[in-house]
Amino acid sequence: MKKIIALFVLIVLLAGCTSPKISEDITPSASSEVDSNTVVVEETTEDNEAAFVAETPVVSENPPEPKESLVIDPNSLRALAEEKSMLVGAAVTINHFGVVTYLDTLKNEFNALTLENGMKWASVNPSRTNFVFAGSDIAVNFAIENEMQVRGHTLVWHQQLPLWLTDKKDWTKEELTEVLINYIDNMVGHYKGKIHSWDVLNEIFNEDGTFRESMWYKTMGDEFIALALKKAHEVDPEAKLIINDYSVETINAKSDGLYNLVKKLKEEGVPIDGVGFQSHFISGQMDFDSFTQNVERFEALGLEVQLTEIDLRIEAPITEDKLIVQGEEYKRLMQIALEHNIRVFIVWGISDVHSWVPSYFAGFSSPLLFDGKYEKKPAYDGVIEALKE
Ligand code: G3I
Repeated sequence: MKKIIALFVLIVLLAGCTSPKISEDITPSASSEVDSNTVVVEETTEDNEAAFVAETPVVSENPPEPKESLVIDPNSLRALAEEKSMLVGAAVTINHFGVVTYLDTLKNEFNALTLENGMKWASVNPSRTNFVFAGSDIAVNFAIENEMQVRGHTLVWHQQLPLWLTDKKDWTKEELTEVLINYIDNMVGHYKGKIHSWDVLNEIFNEDGTFRESMWYKTMGDEFIALALKKAHEVDPEAKLIINDYSVETINAKSDGLYNLVKKLKEEGVPIDGVGFQSHFISGQMDFDSFTQNVERFEALGLEVQLTEIDLRIEAPITEDKLIVQGEEYKRLMQIALEHNIRVFIVWGISDVHSWVPSYFAGFSSPLLFDGKYEKKPAYDGVIEALKE
């Protein structure tokens, strides 16, 4: 009998993973035929930014072992953060889940994770009728087994979109509305109850605080913002809903744009819990006063500030002195978080060796808490010192 029940549960789970809820006639896209384990999607973005090849989930090779019991070192980052009710997390890529040091560092030092690329639209919905959760499920299940929280990144963005979505240039407002609702229904629905916070909207502003001319904005005006938030809330009322962006950490035209938007959304009763400051900083150029004032004005609106993608890149040559300065900056960042209501502190990777920084910013590297050999850096020590104060 137990075997029959187990078989039934397995069939239901598999059906849930592969059958999107589609509420309209769908014409399958010829552009992105994939099997359920391999996702390879070339993308041309609205802004002609770098073409994207989605990460390839390693589904069967190195699945994480189920944990019998979790023993956390009381001096670890994770343990000290938990004492302060702080989520310290890292962006992860399941392609590294076969590396023991990677997984050990993740579960011993962090109590939260974000998938660096694995929950992006191109990764999970490569053809219009096909949702592929196998890769992201591995990370989410790992988090659950190891009592970690998951940040969902990201629902509405202008990058890393599947070809079936970007190739068609004549979407009507009604069609795109339907596409967006259907996507959120499937994505948020699949992870209902498992996501601490969703980056519902990512990078929707230009540097001057106006809205980015993404396919969403061009076709739907600013209506896509409230629509996405309302739909996400309807599907998973427990998940915190966040608008996430970069260069909004200090007071400037872009953060003014974000501030005015979230103030308006709050006044209109649109569900929103907070803002995500991505926090891709340059070490040696941090303005902590402006950062603090900015945090305070968002918190005064009754919103949460989350630090969602922290890294502090250092310009070559990397010296011991520069690493020490970086450590002091990490410490100050955690201090400010603790002094305010910031309780989400996510770094954009575990080890420097996997950071996106060197390939995007020539001459910069070493932005994270652990070096290329997973050794703790002064940056790690700085965060620990702040948590111990
Ligand atoms: O996986 C393929 C690999 O098979 C291929 O050989 C290689 C060749 O280019 O590309 C690999 O794909 C790369 C992918 O990351 C996975 O590593 C893409 O080229 C690369 O463009 C992609 O970059 C990601 C970037 O978002 C895309 O815009 C970075 O890893 C990821 O860290 C970065 O994350 C963003 C956040 O989502 C939003 N905020 C900014 C942040 C940093 O850019």
